[in-house]
Order: sequence, then structure tokens, then C-alpha cells
Amino acid sequence: MNLVLMGLPGAGKGTQAEKIVNKYGIPHISTGDMFRAAMKEETELGLKAKSYMDKGELVPDEVTIGIVRERLSKEDCESGFLLDGFPRTVPQAEALEEILNDLNKKIDYVINIDVDQDILMERLTGRRICKNCGATYHLVFNPPAKENVCDRCGGELYQRADDNAETVQTRLEVNIKQSQPLLNFYETKGYLRNIDGQQDINKVFADVDQLLGGLK
Ligand code: AP5
Ligand code: ZN
Repeated sequence: MNLVLMGLPGAGKGTQAEKIVNKYGIPHISTGDMFRAAMKEETELGLKAKSYMDKGELVPDEVTIGIVRERLSKEDCESGFLLDGFPRTVPQAEALEEILNDLNKKIDYVINIDVDQDILMERLTGRRICKNCGATYHLVFNPPAKENVCDRCGGELYQRADDNAETVQTRLEVNIKQSQPLLNFYETKGYLRNIDGQQDINKVFADVDQLLGGLK
């Protein structure tokens, strides 16, 4: 299955992506994660991405499209993939059509996790992530059993550098502006499926799972 996961920052893309890839065994391709990994390694790509991500702005299309093209061409994507956080602009969506065309693939669904804008600030500023295994928590909505300690591996939790209120505000503004034309693009193509992202995390997954069950 070839999937795209869409949603504003904090909608729950990463949270649902983890569940989808665990159940369906397809690679999780998150452009945000790829940029953060490159930043950690201080590669040229990482340094470039950092200057945009720290401000909450989008990394330029040509940079982002290039890394996705490369990633989708790898062998592990042959039986499917889950794109998370890409595409985010119409030019990225058009480029993706071209890339998939070249690879003889087609999108099955674009899953849009739909959440009211006004709850996203709280979701993002309260998010905590495990340093060790990457598991995502929320101080209020999904707290670990022991404060600051990962339930799964005992690792220490941290806050993402772009999850401060000021940067979150910019991220929301930037992404809200891009999202409607992108939703229209996929609606017209017939790929779009909206999922209510304001339910409990497991209920959101149950809806996604039901949709995907029909694909097998
Ligand atoms: P990226 O890493 O993709 O971040 P984002 O889009 O801002 O999305 P997030 O990861 O912040 O949110 P999420 O939807 O995954 O939410 P999560 O599941 O963690 O991008 C970061 C930056 O990289 C961008 O700003 C840009 O600079 C650059 N970039 C990346 N892709 C790019 C592209 N294609 N083009 C250009 N630039 C790009 O959930 C959030 C919180 O809510 C968590 O604490 C979670 O526990 C909680 N939560 C989740 N679901 C629920 C629920 N149902 N109920 C209650 N709480 C919930
Ligand atoms: Zn952990």
C-alpha cells in the first residue's frame, strides 16, 4: 500500500504513522525525521534544513523533493510506503506524481488527519519525545507512567527544538496557508480520505485501520 499522511502540525501524523507501520510493515518516510537526522549528523542537508526548521518555515521544495525522490527509489519501498509530512505544497504534490509515475507506482490513499486549529498549540507545546527510541508522549493527553521517563525503554524524554510557542505559531500559520490547496489537489484526484483526529489516539487508529483493511 502506498500512503500519504497529511495533517497540520500536531494533528497526530507521527503518532498514527507509528501504529500504521507496525501493523502493515511498510517503511515510514517522514521528511521531518529525515531533516532532524541530518541536523544531528551536521551534514550539508542538515545545516540547510536547520535554518528553516528553527524558524518554523518550510524547507525549500527543491531540497525536500530531492530527498524524497531518493528515498522512494530504495528497494524497501517496493511493497509500499507511508509518507508523513510530504507533500506539504502543491509543487511537492506535483513532483510526487512525477516521481511515482517514473517508478510505476500510484498513491492508494491520502489520509488527512483533521483537527481543529485551536487545539494544536497545546498538543505541540505539551509534546515530549523519547531520546532513545523516539516514542511520542503528551504531558496531558498521553503522559508516561513515570514523569520524564519512556514507558517503552526507560529513556529520557525531551522537547523538540521547534515545539516552543513562538515557533509553533509560525509552523501553524505556514502550514495552514499551504494545506487547503493541497487538500483540493488530492480531492480532485480522488485520493483524499478524511479522518477525525480529535478522538482518542486509539480511536483515530481504529478509523485509519478500518480504511486500510479494505486495501489488503
Ligand atoms: P515535521 O517533523 O513533519 O513536523 P510537523 O508537520 O510540524 O508535525 P509534527 O511532527 O509536529 O506533528 P504530528 O502531526 O506528527 O503530531 P504528533 O503525532 O507528534 O516537520 C518539521 C519541520 O520540518 C517543518 O516545520 C519544516 O521546516 C520541515 N519539513 C518537514 N517536511 C517538510 C516538507 N515536506 N516541506 C518543507 N519542509 C518540511 O502529535 C502531537 C502531540 O499530540 C503529541 O504529544 C501526541 O502525543 C499528541 N496527540 C497525538 N494524537 C492525539 C490525539 N488523538 N489526542 C490527543 N493528543 C494527541
Ligand atoms: Zn523510549
